[in-house]
Amino acid sequence: LPPSPPPPLKFNGTKLVNDRDHPWKPIRKGDIRGPCPGLNTLASHGYLPRDGVATPSQIIEAVQEGFNMASATARFATYAAHLVDGNLVTDLLSIGGKTRRTGVDPPPPAIVGGLNTHSVFEGDSSMTRGDDFFGDNHSFNQTLFDQFVEYSNKYGGGFYNLATATELRHRRIQESIATNPQFDFTSPRFFTAFAESTFPYTFFVDGRISDRATAGLDMTNATLFFRDSKYPLDFWRPPAPTGGTGALQIFSAYPIAAGRNVNGVNTFTPDPTSADFSNICLLYTNFVNKTVKGLYPNPTGVLRRNLIINLGYFYNAFPGGVGECPEQFPYGTL
Ligand code: HEM
Ligand code: MG
Repeated sequence: LPPSPPPPLKFNGTKLVNDRDHPWKPIRKGDIRGPCPGLNTLASHGYLPRDGVATPSQIIEAVQEGFNMASATARFATYAAHLVDGNLVTDLLSIGGKTRRTGVDPPPPAIVGGLNTHSVFEGDSSMTRGDDFFGDNHSFNQTLFDQFVEYSNKYGGGFYNLATATELRHRRIQESIATNPQFDFTSPRFFTAFAESTFPYTFFVDGRISDRATAGLDMTNATLFFRDSKYPLDFWRPPAPTGGTGALQIFSAYPIAAGRNVNGVNTFTPDPTSADFSNICLLYTNFVNKTVKGLYPNPTGVLRRNLIINLGYFYNAFPGGVGECPEQFPYGTL
């Protein structure tokens, strides 16, 4: 049975996380890294298995311990990713590309492609990774990182802070509208894009610094996290559990409807069926009834059982709270 998620941290204050027990090591042949600089760093320091294949419980444990990510956020992101990118029978997920190390695949249309899989979780207009249309949606992209630095200099005095995040998020969306004929900015990407824009100043800034959203992330440390999957020397995690704050503020500075380019570049068109900030419930219901159900139309046996269990863990993590959105049971109950 897929185990219940690990509990919140017992000690949830700041502490040294680049410690003796978690040394950075270079990747070995076959080790997997992917589009998430947070999980990449945790794997390269041994908070996650260094080969880049992990269980949801290991990921939840690691993001709490290594970055003080709040329990609900950790569970929400992890079960969402596992439901679309992981192997629900073996309970293993690749933090990057598809691998045989997650075990035997269930029948298509299931993908089990790891976090690199485009459009089910990974999506367009990332800050330091290119759009899938251009051929690589997961590797560190130096050109994009140069722009990250440029914006940090221009809007954050050399730091990636809330002001930088706001301008860069807008810039990356405009860039994708103008260059990527397949640009897709519908849910869930609509939400993850704004959330992830808050992560660098939330999780990559030392926990002993106060007002971290204003202070921001310096470019030396940004390079370590985004490019090298590496904690700075003497790095301390945030002082309290957090999900990253400011997503709605970043959105509100340049509001945009959820939508996509429908007919080539510069044809961005709102999609009223997509969830957005005015209808967060739809994020949950569409993800379950469309995205997950699309990958698993008719599961049986252990696969069906584990889908039901993982969907339950996912629902319990939903930030809208139990009761706000009615729970969906596309595969019935156990
Ligand atoms: C991006 C998964 C936790 C920082 C991503 C992406 C995925 C992902 C699939 C790619 C989305 C995209 O840009 O297209 C996860 C999962 C997590 C998790 C399943 C489990 C809780 C974290 C943590 C941090 C983090 C703890 C920070 C310490 C980031 C950042 C990006 C990102 C900054 C954006 C990268 C960019 O735009 O260039 N994550 N992540 N993530 N993640 Fe994570
Ligand atoms: Mg992306």
